[in-house]
Amino acid sequence: MNETNLGRRALCKGLLGGVAGLAIGSYAKAKPSMDEAAKVFRLDGGDITYAFGVNGEGQLQTLYWGRKLADSDRLPTPVSVRENSSNETSITVTPLEFPAFGGGLTVEPALKASFPDGVRDLVLRYEGHELAEDRIVVRLKDIGRAVHVTLAYAMDAATGIVSRSATVENRTASWMQIDQLAAASLNLPYGDDYQLSFLTGRWAGEFVLQTRAVTPGSTVIESRKGVTSHQANPWIALSRSGTAEESGPVWFGALGWSGSWRISVDMDALGGVRATAGYNPFDFAYRLKPGESLASPIFHAGFSADGFGGASRLFHHYQRTRILPGTRLRPVLYNSWEATEFAVDEAGQMALAEKAASIGVERFVVDDGWFGKRNSDRAGLGDWVVNAAKFPNGLQPLVKRVNDLGMEFGLWVEPEMVNRDSDLYRAHPDWVIHFAGRPRSEARNQLVLNLARSDVYQYLLKALDRLLNEHNIAFLKWDHNRAWSEPGWPDAPRGEQQRLYVAYVENLYKLLAELRRRHPKLEIESCASGGGRVDLGIMRLTEQVWVSDNTDPFDRLLIQDGFSHAYAPAIMMAWVTDSPNWLHKRVTSLEYRFLSAMQGALGIGANLKRWTEEDFAKARRLVAEYKNIRMTVQQGKLYRLVSPQRGSARSATMSVSQDGSQAVVFAFLHSPGVHGDPLPLLQLRGLDPDRTYALRPISGAVTPQTPKSASGAYWMGHGLRFDLGGDFQAAAAVLDRM
Ligand code: DGJ
Repeated sequence: MNETNLGRRALCKGLLGGVAGLAIGSYAKAKPSMDEAAKVFRLDGGDITYAFGVNGEGQLQTLYWGRKLADSDRLPTPVSVRENSSNETSITVTPLEFPAFGGGLTVEPALKASFPDGVRDLVLRYEGHELAEDRIVVRLKDIGRAVHVTLAYAMDAATGIVSRSATVENRTASWMQIDQLAAASLNLPYGDDYQLSFLTGRWAGEFVLQTRAVTPGSTVIESRKGVTSHQANPWIALSRSGTAEESGPVWFGALGWSGSWRISVDMDALGGVRATAGYNPFDFAYRLKPGESLASPIFHAGFSADGFGGASRLFHHYQRTRILPGTRLRPVLYNSWEATEFAVDEAGQMALAEKAASIGVERFVVDDGWFGKRNSDRAGLGDWVVNAAKFPNGLQPLVKRVNDLGMEFGLWVEPEMVNRDSDLYRAHPDWVIHFAGRPRSEARNQLVLNLARSDVYQYLLKALDRLLNEHNIAFLKWDHNRAWSEPGWPDAPRGEQQRLYVAYVENLYKLLAELRRRHPKLEIESCASGGGRVDLGIMRLTEQVWVSDNTDPFDRLLIQDGFSHAYAPAIMMAWVTDSPNWLHKRVTSLEYRFLSAMQGALGIGANLKRWTEEDFAKARRLVAEYKNIRMTVQQGKLYRLVSPQRGSARSATMSVSQDGSQAVVFAFLHSPGVHGDPLPLLQLRGLDPDRTYALRPISGAVTPQTPKSASGAYWMGHGLRFDLGGDFQAAAAVLDRM
């Protein structure tokens, strides 16, 4: 990434989401341009045009965001929008790119600040700009004070996805406090039939897709928990009333921030719809000394004319090519958690490792319980030294055995946490997030270390670096098992204590980046009691995410469907675990569990000591099948053929490889229903109608009349029917282009 033309460190930091220096690869450039006469800026990339300009009052106003306009199209200089009554100011309804609270603004601000003299008024005017390669940088300044704001717009040439961020710089002679800062305001084309889709949930029930009409007023989705959260995820999609899975317009976006965040979707008095995304202003205050600056997180925003399916395919591509730290396919992993919980030891893990290797597992991960006095969740967090009772010879013999079996070794850590019953807490009780003299609420018997502190940062860097230096560890599962409470930082100077919300997350990113720099082959999974920390901020530094602690294969279909609207299958870890499932005792076949997990990045989390020879044989075959299709599943184009949402009795997905040579279809019948309702003919998508594709079932059967090969036109027009007819049945097939 070439930042040299921008020439501003703060801006560079903002564009990279607060973490310096992670390369994201080379890519074709989008086209930024400016019509000097009309004062109109334009970004063209993919099938998208994004345009804004400077209006007569010197404000930055949105002009267009949607399907690509002709190069010859000229957008007129923007004109501010008047309310329908003289008792309102014009900035209330003008679609501003970055509204600041001041000058009569009453809609959601992107920036709100206060000054030592009591003034809380900012009126931003255009000052200048730079066009640089794939991006536009615009400088704004307050009408009176030396408060400078830099807006960065970068567009991905392949997808037309715009990443937007803002940096505020205090060049006044005294402090100023930022009370609210968003990456952007995004104004949608006028429309009175918008639907908002977003993801909510809870522990073991993440990524529930919600849809509601956008009406006058606000919908706020947010986390106040210091972490991304299970309860809401920072992704939205705005569609029109006719939009469907594969047709109609969808504007979508996600915030790259792993702390407290907020997205507000508003419709103003004249029907203007806008989304504002950034730090959560709840309990937020960031004081800037003279010369200091604060960068917002990045909001990544895209548009598709091809429905929710088109939107998610674009976003998946963008995540794989522009956000994720690598392109390596996810290895098939084994994880010990559901098999052994805290009862890990050398002999037991070696026995599991041998069995895992025999079915084709490529990475063996020891989960919680290997360190400190960790025999339950009551003790040990913070003490990142190997438990000598469980591993009298250290971890080395186990690592060696795993490597000798041809697998990589991975380890669970939860660095940001501490139990009261730990050597670390006994030595440094002041290292946790707390208010002086107030109770420290525990969750899962643990407290949150204040990673904003440099001593905590240094302690964790040293402990983890030592662990990685002393062992051949290829992978860390990085967990985070509680939300914040009592968000105090009593040792910081007054006025700076609320910097915690930003400084903690920046140090988390810095820690992950530094460990990766020192250990370039290390891969990391983001986990937070399941899917509590999935966002485009952490995704820059982690190859994969743990989506949910709910490993029931049927529940997972819904969770994975919701997840796939926002995030790529390439990062979506899914394990095959035991039946009955630990959560609600549902009984399912091993094939069903495999096919559910094979829709993402496959893992095995079962207690292999209980498996029969028949289970091992089935697993060996399905793991081998998975390796044959995983490039298509993880990096291909996903089509959600039949949705499992809204109580559907069935669901189906298909993925088509990027080069079009392979497609994989998964079908699930949850319940045949009272009328013995079969799975319908699945009309496939994304194939070349003029090419021939050979069909090969992976698991389950197709109906007897199904041809062994047929044209893409046949599979897409006529369709394919699996022979399914009972509760919790599944089938899958591969189509190879001939
Ligand atoms: C929560 C994770 O989501 C689980 O997979 C497991 O790692 C436990 N923590 C371990 O404590």
